[in-house]
Amino acid sequence: MKEKIINLREEILNKLEAIEDLKTLNELKIMYLGKKGPIAGMSSIMGSLSIDEKKEFGKVLNELKNEVDNLFDNKKNELETIALNKKLESEKIDITLPSTRIKLGVPHYVERVVEEIEELFISMGYTVVEGPEVEKDLYNFELLNLPKGHPARDAQDTFYINPELLLRTQTSAVQARVMLSNEEKNPIRILCPGKTYRRDYDDATHGHQFTQIEALVVDKNISLANLKGTLDIMVKRLFGENAITRFRPSFYPFTEPSVEYDMSCFKCASEGCNVCKGTGWITIGGAGVVHPNVLRGCGYDPEKYTGFAFGFGIERICMLRYGITDLRVFYTNDLRNINDFRRKDAE
Ligand code: DAH
Repeated sequence: MKEKIINLREEILNKLEAIEDLKTLNELKIMYLGKKGPIAGMSSIMGSLSIDEKKEFGKVLNELKNEVDNLFDNKKNELETIALNKKLESEKIDITLPSTRIKLGVPHYVERVVEEIEELFISMGYTVVEGPEVEKDLYNFELLNLPKGHPARDAQDTFYINPELLLRTQTSAVQARVMLSNEEKNPIRILCPGKTYRRDYDDATHGHQFTQIEALVVDKNISLANLKGTLDIMVKRLFGENAITRFRPSFYPFTEPSVEYDMSCFKCASEGCNVCKGTGWITIGGAGVVHPNVLRGCGYDPEKYTGFAFGFGIERICMLRYGITDLRVFYTNDLRNINDFRRKDAE
């Protein structure tokens, strides 16, 4: 029996020595110290021994049991410490490593110019209003004095969704929305930026989608002179103090009189160059005094109120300002061009 105990001790010590993980350790503990293990087995045969033998072997067996218990506990602590150290080692962060470079985005030219114009007009008491891009024919055309069948509709080749619904061809549509929804019919001073759509083939100077800004002022005694002054302020802000505007007679169904407005060429001071095609002037957009039919149709009394409105394309302003010659640069997410936005901004 004594020999058996000594051998068992040897065996357990050897096995413990070789163990490297907690799972096997646990299995081994159950195997040796469990109810069906050899130590329990030896205890169960004690009953058949003499009193002296019982005393002797009982003591030795108990000592073995306590010793093995301790050994298992120690081994468990040891393995747990190793596992913890391993984990800490693997989660170590080397703060001296170079960081991954995060590329910062930059605002798009179009967005930047829109915001600049918004700021200017807000400072003059205007409110920025947006309208839907999917618009009713009613707002885009009819209330702007362009009934169905009107020949001027042809100038704005339209994406129709159904006979009453379309992709707006002009931000002028927002004018009608705002006038109509103003229940008190009091004065209006709004700026409406947004995307517009026309059926066009995309090339260097045409796009099926572009950005416009529309402005509308409705109040008492508003005249063409107010419009001229406002446009002058705008071009000075965008192209410098020397910029001035001129009007040319034109036709839009929603204004009477209607004008096209040009800006003096910022490149050659109106001497004539490649930017202004030798004319000294650059066309910006259309404008005029709000047509009485439009005021009336939107619930404003044309005897009491007058107004002016103007609209223009933002991409064109960006192209002039940043010397861009191809409209597609704005929409064809080419990183080389997008990074250029940043470079040009720093100039
Ligand atoms: N909506 C016109 C266009 O897209 C531009 C325009 C002309 C706007 C005259 C106006 C205006 O407000 O009065 O071509």
